[in-house]
Amino acid sequence: MTRIAIYPGSFDPVTRGHEDIVRRSLHLADKVVVAVAVNLEKAPLFALEERVALLQEVLRDEPRVEVRSFDGLLAEFARDAGARMVIRGLRAVSDFDYESQMALMNRELDPELETVFLVPALHLTYLSSSLVREVARLDGDVGPFVHPVVEKALKAKYAA
Ligand code: PNS
Repeated sequence: MTRIAIYPGSFDPVTRGHEDIVRRSLHLADKVVVAVAVNLEKAPLFALEERVALLQEVLRDEPRVEVRSFDGLLAEFARDAGARMVIRGLRAVSDFDYESQMALMNRELDPELETVFLVPALHLTYLSSSLVREVARLDGDVGPFVHPVVEKALKAKYAA
């Protein structure tokens, strides 16, 4: 049996923290589908195609990772993909409230779907896409926080 895990998110853009969680989840699953959400509450900085392309580039050395986009309910996407495991990164206690609600709702929608929380490496715990965007927008150095292709893409976004 192939164990497939779904790692969903906005990835606007992918950070070193996301990369760390993907690589950790490969210890638990045979295949990890990184699922990029189409519909975000707020307008993203990077278009869907850009977020997918950056993830593909950043994770190109991981043959057991597939990057896909999804629209609609995560629980349905997971079922269609044959996954029984949803991976989410937990950085701090402040993440827990929203994450536990989401995990319980997803289980209501599909009782066979389990959410597995992974903790990132300590030095990446403070990272978030929104902070990375802000640092880049204010012309700070995002080199330690993102892959070079993402750094380049952020520079291009904020160059104008
Ligand atoms: O990176 P994010 O923004 O924390 O990711 C949130 C995401 C995309 C995983 C979440 O909003 C989601 O699963 N959206 C899909 C719609 C859905 O299934 N909503 C109900 C989940 S409780």
